[in-house]
Amino acid sequence: MAEIALHNLVKTYPGGTTRATDEVSLHVADGEFMVLLGPSGCGKTTLLRMVAGLELPDGGQIVIGGKDVTYLEPRRRNLSMVFQSYAVFPHRRVADNIGFGLRMRGVDPAEIKRKVAWAAEVLQLTPYLDRYPAKLSGGQRQRVAVARAIVMDAEVLLMDEPLSNLDALLRLSFRAELKKLVAELGTTTLYVTHDQVEALSLGDRVAVMRQGRIVQCDAPTTVYDQPAEEFVGGFIGSPPMNFLTGTVVRDNAGVLRLDLGAHSVAVPETLRGYTGRELRLGVRPEAFGVATGGAPEGLGAELEVFEPLGSAVLLTLTLSGHQLKVQAAADFRATPGDRLTLTLPAERCRWYDPETHLLLETA
Ligand SMILES: Nc1ncnc2c1ncn2[C@@H]1O[C@H](COP(=O)(O)OP(=O)(O)OP(=O)(O)O)[C@@H](O)[C@H]1O
Ligand SMILES: [Mg+2]
Repeated sequence: MAEIALHNLVKTYPGGTTRATDEVSLHVADGEFMVLLGPSGCGKTTLLRMVAGLELPDGGQIVIGGKDVTYLEPRRRNLSMVFQSYAVFPHRRVADNIGFGLRMRGVDPAEIKRKVAWAAEVLQLTPYLDRYPAKLSGGQRQRVAVARAIVMDAEVLLMDEPLSNLDALLRLSFRAELKKLVAELGTTTLYVTHDQVEALSLGDRVAVMRQGRIVQCDAPTTVYDQPAEEFVGGFIGSPPMNFLTGTVVRDNAGVLRLDLGAHSVAVPETLRGYTGRELRLGVRPEAFGVATGGAPEGLGAELEVFEPLGSAVLLTLTLSGHQLKVQAAADFRATPGDRLTLTLPAERCRWYDPETHLLLETA
């Protein structure tokens, strides 16, 4: 097992105008499951390919298990990789596919057989060992690709969207299997996805990328609860975090408030430096309390759209001209045009600077 340390990795492709990765630094602890999450084109695959040695950085350093491997050949890095498009060999049976890397390494055939049997068992492929990939489902083929990677006993496992070719249901079941398997193996894992649910579900930590940079790297609950930048709150969560812009004022009672027009929300005293200036409030859709009718305390809002989602109800509301998405309990009922009252616990408010879009400390 080994830890991975990336230092200031810079990569610009020939002819590229922007950096595919821009001074990326990341530390993955021994045995940790690290997810790289970000929108299409943000540099996830590029970063993974540099760790694998399939792409050379223009600058920076890659250290695996204490050893500088930045310019080392891929096969000397003791890692295995599952690619974005699972590359199984169509003309080889499942067993030969799984044992391919071991054969290339010149491992004893009896040992190969033992390991292939083990991986097939773990990934529930035993009945298919003699089949050709053409006669497997997408999920089974994906499992072959994972089996081929895990038999290598590598110190580091790199996976690039290994579930991307599966339908929603298969994705869900294989996701749980994969989580269990990697936990059992204890292999240091770097896993790429643009699927936020997958990232939160699998990662010990999630590194969120944007335009070649890591903008936040934290535990899944922290990334969701305390987005370090507005971008993270907007990218993670479905629907994403709501953002409201207002002006910070001090009311007659001496309390600091965010003036949103017809409404206002209390602002932590620690942000008094923003008095007279704009401030951004971020709130998750499920953080609001919602009730039908008007109430003396709370924010009056008008319901525009009511969407039952099965396990919850999604409401689109207008509040002082701002549009909001609010998630209510499954049994909540209301009709477009209704007046609703929202409550907003102070501890669920996140505050952002309107220029830097960075999370502001309030403690
Ligand atoms: N071989 C290449 N030559 C030139 N530019 C490339 C090459 N590969 C990637 N890029 C560019 O580098 C940037 C990062 O690409 P990368 O494939 O790392 O993104 P990604 O985050 O993996 O995206 P996706 O989620 O779509 O797979 C993109 O702007 C892309 O167009
Ligand atoms: Mg990619």
